[in-house]
Amino acid sequence: MSLLGSLTPAQFLSEHWQKQPLLVRQAIPGFRGFLGPAELAKLASQRDVVARTVTDTGQRGARRFRLDEGPFKRLDVARVPAERWTLLVQGIEQHFDAGWELLQRFSFVPHARVDDLMVSWARPGGSVGPHFDLYDVFLLQGSGRRRWQISTDGDLACIDDADVRVLQRFVPREEWVLEPGDMLYLPPKVGHHGVAVASDEECMTWSIGFSAPAHEQLVHNFLAFLGLEARGEGMYEDPDLQEQERPGDVVDATVARVERALEELRWDQERVATFTGRLLTGPKDSVVFAAPSKPLDVAAFAKRLAGEGKLGLARCSRMLFRGERVFLNGEEYAVAGSLKIALQALADRRSVSLPVAVDDDEVGLLHGWHLRGWIVVG
Ligand code: SIN
Ligand code: CO
Repeated sequence: MSLLGSLTPAQFLSEHWQKQPLLVRQAIPGFRGFLGPAELAKLASQRDVVARTVTDTGQRGARRFRLDEGPFKRLDVARVPAERWTLLVQGIEQHFDAGWELLQRFSFVPHARVDDLMVSWARPGGSVGPHFDLYDVFLLQGSGRRRWQISTDGDLACIDDADVRVLQRFVPREEWVLEPGDMLYLPPKVGHHGVAVASDEECMTWSIGFSAPAHEQLVHNFLAFLGLEARGEGMYEDPDLQEQERPGDVVDATVARVERALEELRWDQERVATFTGRLLTGPKDSVVFAAPSKPLDVAAFAKRLAGEGKLGLARCSRMLFRGERVFLNGEEYAVAGSLKIALQALADRRSVSLPVAVDDDEVGLLHGWHLRGWIVVG
């Protein structure tokens, strides 16, 4: 059995991905995760961490689920509610190598689609309410147990003015209790409700989440990108100006002059590719790159690249590849030769073995990344 049970990645993609849920018992046998409540609570107190708690107040309607957003000053594990309470922390991979190692198991989905790894800790009865997400997600049970119910009736109406987006009506079609190592895949817009079941262990659920930009976001960002790229030289000019019959009219000649100025906003597939690579590797607002505490000078850095060990992406870095171009943290670089081969592998696996044969310019490029805290050598 594998992560996808009896399915191959190709079968999973054609039968389930973005189509229908899949439950896999013992997807990762014995999985309990690498964080417990105390570590998660500590993380939730850091300023560069996106965390929230959701409390089921037991009230009716919009007030049922209360949301509190982090970072939290000090989350005392011994003093959190004994039940009906959940702590959720996003972006775990930015803080632990083991987070990326877990995400790497899902590499049958291209890295361009990966959003983040989230962990929730729920006390018995804890849940974020019946809801749907706009993204694909694998819900992998760590320690403890959680009852998942799903609805597939497509009724996505939500309660107005609620802290937490919850469904007005939720009619479960199927339900399962997930044990450590069990996993549930959900495509976007499938109603689901996961409630922690009392057990000897705390309920920790690991969400491998994917992102899909809304078309509105793509259009908005692409126009901004084109605007920045096309620096628009020249000014509106009309030496051929004619007296108009009605001076208040915007005549065709005026519109045509503006149209000509906007012709700079043309694009082709490669321009879209540049935009896509930059967008998908661009750091999230919460990301803070840590510059190395002991930065190497270029000569020492070159020596490391020529030695043994590993070249790796820093935990906050995102790298994607296309042809002769590498995208790293929202920037684009042209690469060739052995550097290209090494960086392609880095984009695929986040770590490659040294040595890497590079010329002086290429050392300079990589050294710049080292100084910005984007890559690690060692
Ligand atoms: C949770 O882990 O509590 C919520 C995850 C989800 O429903 O998407
Ligand atoms: Co959800």
